[in-house]
Amino acid sequence: MKKHEQKVAIITGASRGIGEAIARRLAMEGASVALLARSDTFHLVQDIQEAGGSALGVSCDLKAPCSILSALNEVITQYGRCDILINNAGIYPRVPFENITFDMWRDVFAVNVDAPFLLCKAVLPHMKASRCGRIVNITSNALWLTLQDMSHYMASKMALIGLTRALSTELAEYGITVNSVAPGLVRTKSTEQFTTEDVFQSVAASQPLQQTISPEDIAGTVSFLVSGDAAYITGQNIVVDGGIVRY
Ligand SMILES: NC(=O)c1ccc[n+]([C@@H]2O[C@H](COP(=O)([O-])OP(=O)(O)OC[C@H]3O[C@@H](n4cnc5c(N)ncnc54)[C@H](O)[C@@H]3O)[C@@H](O)[C@H]2O)c1
Repeated sequence: MKKHEQKVAIITGASRGIGEAIARRLAMEGASVALLARSDTFHLVQDIQEAGGSALGVSCDLKAPCSILSALNEVITQYGRCDILINNAGIYPRVPFENITFDMWRDVFAVNVDAPFLLCKAVLPHMKASRCGRIVNITSNALWLTLQDMSHYMASKMALIGLTRALSTELAEYGITVNSVAPGLVRTKSTEQFTTEDVFQSVAASQPLQQTISPEDIAGTVSFLVSGDAAYITGQNIVVDGGIVRY
């Protein structure tokens, strides 16, 4: 039997980057995966199905609460349950604090905090019904670094860690674990847009483990946290950054 067989996993921001890698990994290990994304996931769904897995592409704008609720309904209609929720989608614009407008601030919080809040609430009855559940929120190691121009992002990810810790306590009685994973700099199409090759190299050189981190490295940690092997890990923020941050 595969590691995540008979589990249904929702992954947000699954169309590319870390979310895509998590979706591929969980599907390869037997989970039925619901890919919540704004953009088209047709090819990813097709790839997973051709490899013998089960995947459902669900169109969802995480800034719109009604879109989140209808996405959840679509998943439950198709699969009848939800065992795993990966709040991966996130936006990380770089803007100096003085130039951040309230609208920009609210945009970042809408995707990075409000959407995870709404999804955690929406999946809860289904996880309670099966008396087990796994929630993983994707945060960032940036909170422990001195990065510039990311105050809205940093505040949002710290809020997500707070939510992780609070829910890990409140939901334990239902057999639900809640953890977060904090990547370091990961090479994705998005980070490639604002990161030069020199910066990728110098960040890797500053890590004790001197390789640029890939989306698959993050997916491996997520797969462990949602597995039976992590049954007694909850409320933790696991940093996957090659060893830079220790706390
Ligand atoms: N890549 C890194 O170096 C890095 C480092 C630390 C933390 N992270 C975190 O990892 C997560 C994924 O990062 P990534 O680099 O893969 O990002 P990405 O930009 O490649 O992908 C983000 C995904 O979120 C989706 N998304 C954004 N806004 C959305 C919305 N309103 N509705 C629906 N989907 C929406 C995008 O469509 C995309 O699929 C984010 O939470 C990010 O903060 C990334």
